[in-house]
Amino acid sequence: MDSIRIRGGQPLKGRIPISGAKNAALPLLAACLLTEGTLTLGNVPHLADIVTMSNLLGQLGVEIGLNGRAPQGVTGRVVTLKAATLTGVIAPYELVRKMRASILVLGPLLARAGEAKVSLPGGCAIGSRPVDLHIAALQKLGAEITLDNGYIHARAPKGLTGGEIIFPTVTVTGTENAMMAATLAKGETTIVNAAREPEVMDLAHCLVAMGAQIDGIGSDRLRITGKEKLHTAIHQVVPDRIEAGTFAMAAAITNGDMELIGAKLEHLNSVVTILASAGVSMTETADGLRVRRTNGLHGVDVMTEPYPGFPTDLQAQMMALMCVAQGASMITETIFENRFMHVPELRRMGAHITVHNASALVRGVPVLTGAPVMATDLRASVSLALAGLAAQGETTLNRIYHLDRGYERLEEKLAACGAEIERIKAAA
Ligand code: EPZ
Repeated sequence: MDSIRIRGGQPLKGRIPISGAKNAALPLLAACLLTEGTLTLGNVPHLADIVTMSNLLGQLGVEIGLNGRAPQGVTGRVVTLKAATLTGVIAPYELVRKMRASILVLGPLLARAGEAKVSLPGGCAIGSRPVDLHIAALQKLGAEITLDNGYIHARAPKGLTGGEIIFPTVTVTGTENAMMAATLAKGETTIVNAAREPEVMDLAHCLVAMGAQIDGIGSDRLRITGKEKLHTAIHQVVPDRIEAGTFAMAAAITNGDMELIGAKLEHLNSVVTILASAGVSMTETADGLRVRRTNGLHGVDVMTEPYPGFPTDLQAQMMALMCVAQGASMITETIFENRFMHVPELRRMGAHITVHNASALVRGVPVLTGAPVMATDLRASVSLALAGLAAQGETTLNRIYHLDRGYERLEEKLAACGAEIERIKAAA
């Protein structure tokens, strides 16, 4: 397995391009199942998870074109998808276990083909992550669902019928599955307590471009009026706010000065507010956002919440930053039950962190020291890279396949801003 070696201490300076959002591109790819027309997506990030989703769609009969010509209105990496005729309705365990987001084919497949068999995703490092809310939502639209041999078997032989879906917990992919299914249901669907993440909004905008009727986009109450069919569309994937937030913290932890090209301030409001109180300014430029410290780095309290609150996907990165702040920081994780796996690894680099249930108390130290560390999940692994960028000496980050799932060319982007970072290829 490859690893990444970092020699810390270099302040990051320069411009860093922000890629298309992984968590927008994944549901957008699945949305192609809703139409026999061609869906053209621009600004698609080149990530392992995108390859996994493409493989799954290919197994269902979707024709996929990579790096096509960029038509009017889209830039960057272009992917075209055409689900003219589906050749299957099964999302197999061997693919779903690699990527839980495969669950996103459940709603569109059921709506389009009247049937879907999707492996239950099973547990994951950061929590049990059940999909009971996805199942309950589709049942509200008339789906008959059974759980057989580890698979969700959903049927709607006469098609889906609109209904009222009330989510007791905000669920991002649950909202996305329900919204996609509802676009082809007969009549009107209301989704109450819908997720409001920018990636959910991006999917809604793409579905509207495909001919869907969706009201309340960006709010926690969505109204979808079902259509007979959806059609061909072109859509540009929204920039990745989590990648942008990650690089903002890389600039802050190294006391650097970086411009995040393509980042959107309005998608990072809670992060901007928290970082400002920690002594880090994020200001809009013509091309994106500029990030640098203002007057030292101070400990602040952070609680993760559904959008527009502070994102759970930036919690580990924020913790790494707080490890070298002056004073203490209480970081509370309210979304997932086991998302502190970066803590023991940060401690090995000299961090002072004590965990009490869902909260971690971080006492800042003047400097971290490099060490060999282990990546465990996507965001925990990048938090260790951030710590390595600020630490004295050398940090080796192992099991970096986690990183490759969510960050496009991470070491290249950071090296271009002055980081001493390199990928060590595993012996063949
Ligand atoms: C999405 O996961 C993201 N993934 C996650 O990003 C992100 O951390 C998460 O939303 C929260 O923002 C994608 O968009 C592909 P949830 P998702 O359903 O949809 C519970 C990353 O690093 N829940 O919003 O799976 C669940 O256990 C990944 O890019 C149920 O109980 O998350 C959790 O406690 C990690 N039953 C809470 O809701 C359900 O049926 C929120 O989960 C569904 C969820």
